[in-house]
Amino acid sequence: MTAGTVGTSVERALEVLGNGGLVALPTETVYGLAADASNEAAVRRIFATKGRPADHPLIVHVATADQLPEWAGDVPSAAAVLAETCWPGPLTLLVPKAAHVLSVVTGGRDTVGIRVPAHPMATELLARFGGGLAAPSANRFGKVSPTTAAHVAADLGDAVDYILDGGPCPVGVESTIVDCSVTPPQILRPGAITAEQVSALLDGELAPAAGPSRAAGMMASHYAPLAQVVLVDSREAAQSVVAGDPAAWLLDRTDDLVLYARHLYDDLRAADVRGVRTVVAVLPPPSGLGHAIRDRLTKAATV
Ligand code: TXA
Ligand code: MG
Repeated sequence: MTAGTVGTSVERALEVLGNGGLVALPTETVYGLAADASNEAAVRRIFATKGRPADHPLIVHVATADQLPEWAGDVPSAAAVLAETCWPGPLTLLVPKAAHVLSVVTGGRDTVGIRVPAHPMATELLARFGGGLAAPSANRFGKVSPTTAAHVAADLGDAVDYILDGGPCPVGVESTIVDCSVTPPQILRPGAITAEQVSALLDGELAPAAGPSRAAGMMASHYAPLAQVVLVDSREAAQSVVAGDPAAWLLDRTDDLVLYARHLYDDLRAADVRGVRTVVAVLPPPSGLGHAIRDRLTKAATV
């Protein structure tokens, strides 16, 4: 790829964004492919670069929770509580959109996803940029999300104008998405802000995910590596599968779920780089961060 495309210059990233270009943005979850959310042509380039269908809405990233009312047509009380307690952090809130929010960002919907990421470089870039940055994960559509600048370069190469290298993402899986445009709110995607935490903050007011928001991009197959992913419930079960297929890779970090999530996509990418045909992954128990890891592994296993 072109020399100078990867670096740590927030100045350079600002210049690219100001010219309607695309910047790979480090966040605490995964790298995003960012463009000025109020520049329609720039946002269209995100879809073209990723190969993403136009009806999959994008998350708007802002520097601080104070900017929520600038992007929301209305701030439901659940959104106000979650923004106040969880931002900056790995949480996206769906709220009714403000009138100025471009329909290319929301896929024509009347809601918008907003998030304040907790990564020092993202915070600095967003604060100096001032506006919102529309950013999906910086991978080709349907592939595993990137958690390092090298992953972004491998996936998108020169199709991205500048890759801001903020090191490996500490969380490693995408943000929790809470739809606050419905009552009671729903968790559309599990993440590091857990369902248990959200439920406690909202005094138990949470409904199962269903309805039109859920349909917007929540596909059964997603986050898929080239390797076939076989899911098992215990290390013992994994070992018996590996015994019958010695070339299979064992993926099991169930003794530390923070590390399981942090390294999950890097592990799946490493399997592809090595040409591994089968990954045998041990599912963590369905609680806390385990929900997010199970969700991504299940999608990686669905072809
Ligand atoms: O952690 C993250 O959320 C990362 C980083 C870069 O912030 N971003 C991310 O974006 O994962 P993306 O586009 O890969 O996933 C966002 C998901 C998509 O499934 C999209 O369809 C859904 O959120 N989404 C966004 N806005 C929505 C809306 N208004 N209604 C329903 N779903 C929405
Ligand atoms: Mg994505």
